[in-house]
Amino acid sequence: MSTQTPIRRTTVPQIANRKGGEPIVSLTSYHAHTAAIVDKYADFILVGDSLGMVMHGMESTVGVPLDLMIMHGKAVVRGTKKALVVVDMPFGTYEESPAVAFRNAAKIMKETGCGAVKLEGGKRMAETIRFLTERGIPVMAHIGLTPQSSHVMGGFKTQGRDEDTWAIHEEDAQAVSEAGAFAIVLEGMVEPLAAKITKQVAIPTIGIGASADCDGQILVLEDMLGLNEWTPKFVKVYGDLGPAIERAVDQYAKDVKDRSFPGEDEVYR
Ligand code: KIV
Repeated sequence: MSTQTPIRRTTVPQIANRKGGEPIVSLTSYHAHTAAIVDKYADFILVGDSLGMVMHGMESTVGVPLDLMIMHGKAVVRGTKKALVVVDMPFGTYEESPAVAFRNAAKIMKETGCGAVKLEGGKRMAETIRFLTERGIPVMAHIGLTPQSSHVMGGFKTQGRDEDTWAIHEEDAQAVSEAGAFAIVLEGMVEPLAAKITKQVAIPTIGIGASADCDGQILVLEDMLGLNEWTPKFVKVYGDLGPAIERAVDQYAKDVKDRSFPGEDEVYR
């Protein structure tokens, strides 16, 4: 009798096989409760290192530690049943060598129970992507605007505005695809370039500020829910969570001050 439990979550090959098919729905999530909601609709959930900026008030993702990614990764895996969970490898945990990347990616997978990791970089990370995938670690690549390199790029700038630079991004996409990545995030890239790369590569492209022609889309959950005061221009905002929270907190403060707050006998009745 087999003691193995069947995999019920969306698998890496299922995502890879969606190339050119039904668009892939994905969002970020950092907590068990939001992940449980997103899980009903998303094919994969990314525990993005954007959590450093969105949740922890950091100025960039550069300072995000591995242990923080693992803590949030565990919460998202606990809160979900269906979606593939992908956890970002934070800056400084994979660039040094394929062996260092393997050690840290294996730690993320063992401790969180996630199904894949994501790392930033094209051609320069191809050797590492091959090393990880050959050893059982599925890798999602991330090219174009790569926030962990924002200091080198001089900020968060849309890539490919100058057509002369397109070849670099096309080579990056080809290199990570050939190295074994199962999907690529195309972030902050001019529309025709993202559409062109989507046609060229064999693996699904996941756009964020890129092109509607990508094989799937991802957004930062807090951005699309309207929780952040500032959101990038390309984000379609579907909720008004920021103002809704403010209204609720304002009403609560008024109730406390007016002493219209329920007493213990009413609450525990
Ligand atoms: O960290 C993140 O949330 C990401 C997405 C924006 C793709 O990498």
